Amino acid sequence: MIPFLRGPTSWVFLVLGLAFYIYRRRRNVNKVKAPSSYSTPPTPTKDATYSEESYHQIEPLTDFNLAATEPIKIRPFKPKYHLTMALENTTMSDLVAMDNTYIERIKLRKDLIENQPQDVLAVNPKAVDAILEFYTWSVHVYLPRRFPTIFTLSPTTSTLYNTITHQSLPLHLTSAVHALSLIGQTIDDDFLLLLPSSNPQDDGKYRLEAFITCFPSGFNTPKKLNLLLSEIHGPVPGYSEKLEKSMDRFFATLPVGKMVKRHNWSVTTHRRLFTFDGNHLTDEELAAQKHKENENENENEGAGVEDDGVDIEQTVLRCERQTLHRLPKTKALVFAFKTYQYGMRELRNEGGVEDFCAAIDGLGLGNVPGMTVYKRQVVWGEKVKAFLRGEIDE
Ligand SMILES: *[C@@H]1O[C@H](CO)[C@@H](O)[C@H](O)[C@H]1NC(C)=O
Ligand SMILES: *[C@@H]1O[C@H](CO)[C@@H](O)[C@H](O)[C@H]1NC(C)=O
Repeated sequence: MIPFLRGPTSWVFLVLGLAFYIYRRRRNVNKVKAPSSYSTPPTPTKDATYSEESYHQIEPLTDFNLAATEPIKIRPFKPKYHLTMALENTTMSDLVAMDNTYIERIKLRKDLIENQPQDVLAVNPKAVDAILEFYTWSVHVYLPRRFPTIFTLSPTTSTLYNTITHQSLPLHLTSAVHALSLIGQTIDDDFLLLLPSSNPQDDGKYRLEAFITCFPSGFNTPKKLNLLLSEIHGPVPGYSEKLEKSMDRFFATLPVGKMVKRHNWSVTTHRRLFTFDGNHLTDEELAAQKHKENENENENEGAGVEDDGVDIEQTVLRCERQTLHRLPKTKALVFAFKTYQYGMRELRNEGGVEDFCAAIDGLGLGNVPGMTVYKRQVVWGEKVKAFLRGEIDE
């Protein structure tokens, strides 16, 4: 025992020692923490709620009857259009929705994949393992467990049998292009695979590395290959200010086993499911269009030119049911969407048209008023509302 530590002064040393210890600890904590906020890209969250297990916990739709299943009615109408992620949590079971449009959709997808593969399918070498992982899980686990009345495993031939198309899919493949092509002909969903960029300057942001997209709504998917998430969304008004940061962060940190879902909508004045362009408009294009119309009006003065080019019978509400999840092994992100089209007559007969009309006006009332031009509401808005309200009949 050191003599001077005894007696009334000893507590001073204790307090000093403790203070020094706390000071050191805090410095160390700061030392470890400070740089991570700007130099280390975010990594997927380790959340005990989510794990690889959920890839195997697929709830079967035991009595699923394809012919009797109508397409889901998506009516995501809001009186003000705010550009947000608007995500719902869901489970892996919910990845694919099947309905009685399957046969005609699959026929269309097959034609596209056979006749214009360069438009609908691409694979970068970097994405090969991810695609094979996704394919193997889809044919081994997801499809036969989720839809046992449609897909049956045949262990003797090592294939998955599709009772609707009568196609047999091999359980093991080595070609990623073949795998994506088979997925495209089996599931009426479009898939885009993203991986973290290997360029250090990109700070771990995600790039599009592979896709099978038969039904793009006004975007040229091949031109989006290799692009960063923010570059893919370049044409979306308000994206960089309102959404880019939270999207990048969400994509970077989504844990394995967690799946999210969202819906979006627009109105198209045609029914083509595969469409690279024409579904969106820019201010410049709109101005050029107006200029042309004025010229025509002057030429045909008094002739009452009233052709707005909107054919109600061809006009549809086009919705996408989108999901995002991360593959457990390769950690690739899989963005999937299924496209729905609802005719204007169907919507009018269904009732509740005022919610839809409010949403049409609401495109210009949210945080990105430019949506009215981008979604071409300035072209179809008035006519669609008049038709829905029964003021006109075609
Ligand atoms: C989804 O789950 C996360 C936890 O992973 C939770 O923080 C969030 O509130 C949930 N979102 C909704 C819309 O329920
Ligand atoms: C839905 O959103 C995606 C972007 O996530 C966009 O590419 C697509 O054109 C939109 N589709 C519709 C029908 O609005």
